[in-house]
Amino acid sequence: MVPGLPLKNTQASTGDTFEAAVLAGLSRRPRAIPAKFLYDAQGSALFDAICELPEYYLTRTEITILRDRAPEIAALAGPGRQLIEFGSGSSVKTRLLLDSLEAVAAYVPIDISGEHLEATSRRLRADYPALAIVPVCADYTDLPMLPWLPGSSGAAKLGFFPGSTIGNLDPDEALAFLRNARRLLGPGGALVLGADLKKDPGMLHAAYNDSAGVTAAFSLNLLARMNRELGASFDLEGFAHEAFYNPAAGRIEIYIRSLRPQSVRIAGQRFFFDAGERVHTEYSYKYDLADMDALAVPAGFVRTQTWTDPGRLFSVNYFVAT
Ligand code: TRP
Repeated sequence: MVPGLPLKNTQASTGDTFEAAVLAGLSRRPRAIPAKFLYDAQGSALFDAICELPEYYLTRTEITILRDRAPEIAALAGPGRQLIEFGSGSSVKTRLLLDSLEAVAAYVPIDISGEHLEATSRRLRADYPALAIVPVCADYTDLPMLPWLPGSSGAAKLGFFPGSTIGNLDPDEALAFLRNARRLLGPGGALVLGADLKKDPGMLHAAYNDSAGVTAAFSLNLLARMNRELGASFDLEGFAHEAFYNPAAGRIEIYIRSLRPQSVRIAGQRFFFDAGERVHTEYSYKYDLADMDALAVPAGFVRTQTWTDPGRLFSVNYFVAT
């Protein structure tokens, strides 16, 4: 193996191709396209813009909590941990932990994007020259597919899963993820988990329906991506972003809605959309502390600490393997 190159967990890690996922997702009822396809280069840039919006409190609130509490997190974790991040992206939040954790044995960022991993690892190596960085290219929801983790050298492990990404998993997927993470982190393992809290539905609604229309552009970029990559014939004016809080399910539901009856050609096939018909793209579950414990305990964790902001918008939680 070449040191410094991300390990590639092929096939199983990346799942369906975009075309296969789109054709299958639009052929079934209710129609749905997996949210991961929102994040091509344009989509990722639009999501970065979402994170800067006044209404989208999630990212900045989590960063503030991590910045304020990193010394406490580091004290709980103790020295010599191997830090494993599930879905590391640009590792911006990780730096807050790395600046406080003592004698980190290795940093293992797991991400589905090899390009992201390489660019991020290069920047981190420059800023943390003494840190062993072992990037792994894989889908963090496919942890059972990871046959082994490099450099596991017996160091106690600390998992890191920020961004309320847990909220984008259905409850059964979230439980499966936590069980797999628990197995990977082993005895003595701990997990730092960021989760968006349940709150005033009006505030949640605003976070997913910003007044500048950036969220709508992000949503509809999925159609633009189909036009770019699959030669599809979507008229973006004929569709709208839709997001609302479903209090019974405790989640934001996100769809693309057809504004009129229309037919669209995608990869040589025709699809008909009724007026008002929706394509589901993402759920974003919101957690209270009881919801979190209901997942943690059957997964083999106990929540020993929770930090929030003064407005109780977002939570950073410390889970310990039981
Ligand atoms: N993970 C983000 C969240 O749940 C994703 C997101 C934010 C999103 N706004 C969106 C996904 C709009 C689709 C459409 O907060």
